[in-house]
Amino acid sequence: MCGIVGYTGNQQAAPILLDGLSKLEYRGYDSAGLAVRNGDSAPVVVKTAGKLVNLIQATDGGKKLLGTCGIGHTRWATHGDPTVTNAHPHVSDEVVGVHNGIIENYSELREKLKDNGYAFYSQTDTEVIVKLVDYYYRKYKIGPIDAINRTMVRARGSYALALIFSDYPGEIYAARKESPLIIGKTEDASFLASDVPAILKYTRSVYYIENLQAARITPSTVQFFNLNGDEVFLPVKEIEWDASAAEKDGYEHFMLKEIHEQPLAVKNTLKNTDFDNIDLTNVKALDIVACGSAWHTGVAAQYIIEKLAGIPVRVELASEFRYRSLPLSKGTLVVVISQSGETADSLAALRKAKEAHLPVLGIVNVIGSSIAREADYVIHTQAGPEISVATTKAYSAQLVALYMLALKISRVNEEPYMHQLDKLPALISKVLEDKKDLQYLASRISNSSDIFFIGRGLDYAVSLEGSLKMKEISYIRSEAYPAGELKHGTISLVEDGTVVIGVLTQDDVYEKTLSNMIECKSRGAYLIALTSGQRPGLEKVADFIIRVPETESMFMASLAVIPLQLLAYYTSVYRGLDVDKPRNLAKSVTVE
Ligand code: AGP
Repeated sequence: MCGIVGYTGNQQAAPILLDGLSKLEYRGYDSAGLAVRNGDSAPVVVKTAGKLVNLIQATDGGKKLLGTCGIGHTRWATHGDPTVTNAHPHVSDEVVGVHNGIIENYSELREKLKDNGYAFYSQTDTEVIVKLVDYYYRKYKIGPIDAINRTMVRARGSYALALIFSDYPGEIYAARKESPLIIGKTEDASFLASDVPAILKYTRSVYYIENLQAARITPSTVQFFNLNGDEVFLPVKEIEWDASAAEKDGYEHFMLKEIHEQPLAVKNTLKNTDFDNIDLTNVKALDIVACGSAWHTGVAAQYIIEKLAGIPVRVELASEFRYRSLPLSKGTLVVVISQSGETADSLAALRKAKEAHLPVLGIVNVIGSSIAREADYVIHTQAGPEISVATTKAYSAQLVALYMLALKISRVNEEPYMHQLDKLPALISKVLEDKKDLQYLASRISNSSDIFFIGRGLDYAVSLEGSLKMKEISYIRSEAYPAGELKHGTISLVEDGTVVIGVLTQDDVYEKTLSNMIECKSRGAYLIALTSGQRPGLEKVADFIIRVPETESMFMASLAVIPLQLLAYYTSVYRGLDVDKPRNLAKSVTVE
């Protein structure tokens, strides 16, 4: 997902913009650029393909770009190849701009602009929207805010825009619809960014601009406007993160740091989650909707809530839910799970549920995010900022939030369960103590071409997450499979040396899954067992055993997932890959 930064104040802008972009690299990108203006001179634009270091070198760390007002961008290509031409900022006669999102009707708008004398040099939707602003600004001889508002009425899709107008030196204009954008303020400077880490070094005072609002920022002021051009006032929020939270703290990668932050993330979520304002009295069914790892926590929660509360629980992929005409019956609580709170599919699913007049509970890690603000109820997982693209601590925090939701909905006596949950942070720490075996195992499997993760029930939910972690950061083809389903076709893929990881934490299905694993072994598989407790005789079956401590079986996913996170991490490191910023991926997928 693209990253946007902006600065106007009394310091040189370029070094601040480059620093901000470096804090947004985790979002995934393939090119970068800056536009900086000195006084009322025209903005100077520098763009480079590839990593941010190329832009830093091209501008000599920003020294070559003089001026105290500027915007910057890291681009994750959606329209057009990741080339310098397509990199942002994009320019027109009077306006220079950067954009995060997708303009759905950009082709139609490009034709309209061509009919009005505009020429295009790139393949991007961004160049179109920058020139559309320019068109309205010049044609109607209106101010920047009015030109932006006309553009917002005309353009369809999602955008966070930062724009510089040649007639307005020292000022930056912004607009937002769906894509995240925040405005930061200090005594003598104003900032804008796609996410908090980009400006946390400079300010904790931020404004969360709303959908279809525009903003004007100068060194001394920030103003917000609605679609009618009326000024509106937004509350300033104080960011409570500490700056180190967005740094690696001596770990080689953010992912390893965040894996080790899981005991604290779980502890804080257990301690600070309250359900007082969530009406669960008449909940007859649950529809859990999410994407990726968040969806995996929903799969785990389904087993637990059905078992404890005895109500039907559907778990839907948000990208499917939003297009199905599925009956949403009264009494259904829709639960949208999202670390970023900005995932386009999950946000669309939330809106579909609200159109059906169903209550929505958001389980979200980022405060002030779209899902957090649009849900009827919100549980904030207390994982802190998660920088690595591959989620770990937010996943674990989501799990415990869902355990507590299950206890609330089922109205069982919570005490014995909470007693078990309170032990989880220490048990997770215990799993994290000994990583040598996993480092060895990672070296053993790092050249595999196929890895299967299999399990039943909650062990299948864990298999889903273990498989996603492995494939998204090690690029090894991997599949999670319900152990009982293998014999219905997929086992034909198992051959000599195929790695099969069997998750065996659930006593009631242990023997069944073990026999499925033996079926794989008899076809040549290299068998890894991930289990709790002793399990006599298992060493005769498995080639390698990963053991985790025991706890309440319903909560075992919180322990079993840890070795699988570490196994994926070390495998990626062995393969020399970019663990925190895997190819093709973004931390938050704010486009469809
Ligand atoms: C998880 O490691 C992936 N990065 C991805 O599947 C992620 O869980 C998914 O995109 C959902 O993101 P969200 O939780 O921010 O909505």
